[in-house]
Amino acid sequence: MNRVLVVDDDQVLRDSVKSSLEYHNFVVDTASNGKEALSAIYKEKYDLVLMDVNMPEMNGMQALVEIKKYDPSIIVLILTAYSNVGDAVKAVKEGAYNYLEKPITSENLAALIKRALKARSLVETSAFSAPSLSLGKTTDDKFVGESDVMKKVFGVIMRLAQVNTPVLIRGESGTGKELVAKAIHYNGPRKDEKFVTINLAAVPDNLIESELFGHEKGAFTGATERKIGKFQFADGGTIFLDEIGDVTPPMQVKLLRVLQEKTFTPVGSNRDVKVDVRIIAASHKPFEEMIKAGTFREDLFYRLNVLPVYLPPVRERVLDIPHLIGYYVKYFNNVHNLNIVGPTVEAMKLLSVYAWPGNIRELRNVIEHAFIIESTDYIQASSLPESVKRGSKIISKQVEEDELIDFEGIKDSVLDGEKNASDSKGYDFSFAAISESNLDFQFAKDCFEKEFIVYALKLNRGKINQTALKANIPKKTLLRKIEKYSINPKEYY
Ligand SMILES: Nc1ncnc2c1ncn2[C@@H]1O[C@H](COP(=O)(O)OP(=O)(O)OP(=O)(O)O)[C@@H](O)[C@H]1O
Ligand SMILES: [Mg+2]
Repeated sequence: MNRVLVVDDDQVLRDSVKSSLEYHNFVVDTASNGKEALSAIYKEKYDLVLMDVNMPEMNGMQALVEIKKYDPSIIVLILTAYSNVGDAVKAVKEGAYNYLEKPITSENLAALIKRALKARSLVETSAFSAPSLSLGKTTDDKFVGESDVMKKVFGVIMRLAQVNTPVLIRGESGTGKELVAKAIHYNGPRKDEKFVTINLAAVPDNLIESELFGHEKGAFTGATERKIGKFQFADGGTIFLDEIGDVTPPMQVKLLRVLQEKTFTPVGSNRDVKVDVRIIAASHKPFEEMIKAGTFREDLFYRLNVLPVYLPPVRERVLDIPHLIGYYVKYFNNVHNLNIVGPTVEAMKLLSVYAWPGNIRELRNVIEHAFIIESTDYIQASSLPESVKRGSKIISKQVEEDELIDFEGIKDSVLDGEKNASDSKGYDFSFAAISESNLDFQFAKDCFEKEFIVYALKLNRGKINQTALKANIPKKTLLRKIEKYSINPKEYY
């Protein structure tokens, strides 16, 4: 059962909203100003707060800021008189979900609240809710994965976390190798020790040895101080050897020794150093081919590959795509303080069939890019990069042939979002405009007809032929209605 807190200094309004929401099965408490609201929130867990703007003691804007600081997951809906709409818009920028102008009808209110709660639960469940998968204190990244293969990966991570054996994580660029390495470290007994990363492809060959094992003062030109290497620095914890497929054969020998004996010799030293470090390595390189070609040592590969983890490219786990998108939409809403609902149906189709050569990193960048240029509540197809639009055309053909993707599930969740947002813009075909004073059947029909046509045009980007076809209206009738209700289809292009 969802708990709602109604905050308003007008007792009559407070009580009537409370009883109407209770009628819709919400558990409702009330408060008469921002201060009371905060003390209630500190005591009880509320899903949603419905809040007036002008109130004595502490106004709605101040309370909103405090609530969002305390628990950003609480949805705040602002109630406002017409004269205060400017403030309400500001409130939305501060993190309120939306605002409502008074007077409100109880049906509209209950519908809007349900929608807000549903939108939240969609986003929340889209991140793989693995109860104990931690990725360290320094990151708020989550591990998202709903496809069977990713659920298996998750199970493997949990098992690997408990043992000390080396791990080799393989997968294309951007598939999450580093994220998995962190998950293994932060869910095991070494979690309070260091997790040290070194990207072996980024360090010049002549410096790798000293980076990893350290050097003595004067060991080579420029070694003015004695330096501790990453292995020693990570002692007790985990070292993540990223891009291990890129190291030269002489370095491979040295790494093999650490793997076998946990021992190494700093550059310029005649003393061995022993460490207790767990080794996790990653690479996108084709080891089998490199071994055949003699560029990667077979013994090192077998040492590393005791417990392999393979992360498939995104195009092979399309079921994760909507979840990843949902996760990043929520993530960037937080980062940029926005309230973007998600991709439109059209955009979602493009995103779902694109091949994602840069995998999750690319997906994340595409969503963030869309957030930056998007001016509507949705990620529109037009806000996607050319590569996604172009790449999709090629792939979509193939997908249709292969019937790889189950679009129904994806479409449903997106369509839900589409319906939701259109409601809040007044396309819920409610009887908003009907009251006792104009209770008239013809008027009600006209209201509905107008809203319906606007809605249909919007879904079809203002295209007359397409709208007529999709909505089952003869084109002539549609044009007549457009004229009758002074609708401008161009607004929806
Ligand atoms: N399962 C996942 N759920 C959510 N985000 C993910 C997931 N996997 C990867 N990411 C995100 O994708 C981005 C790339 O991940 P990561 O750096 O771990 O990839 P990588 O395989 O190490 O790539 P590269 O080979 O290019 O170094 C990061 O921002 C990471 O947080
Ligand atoms: Mg990486």
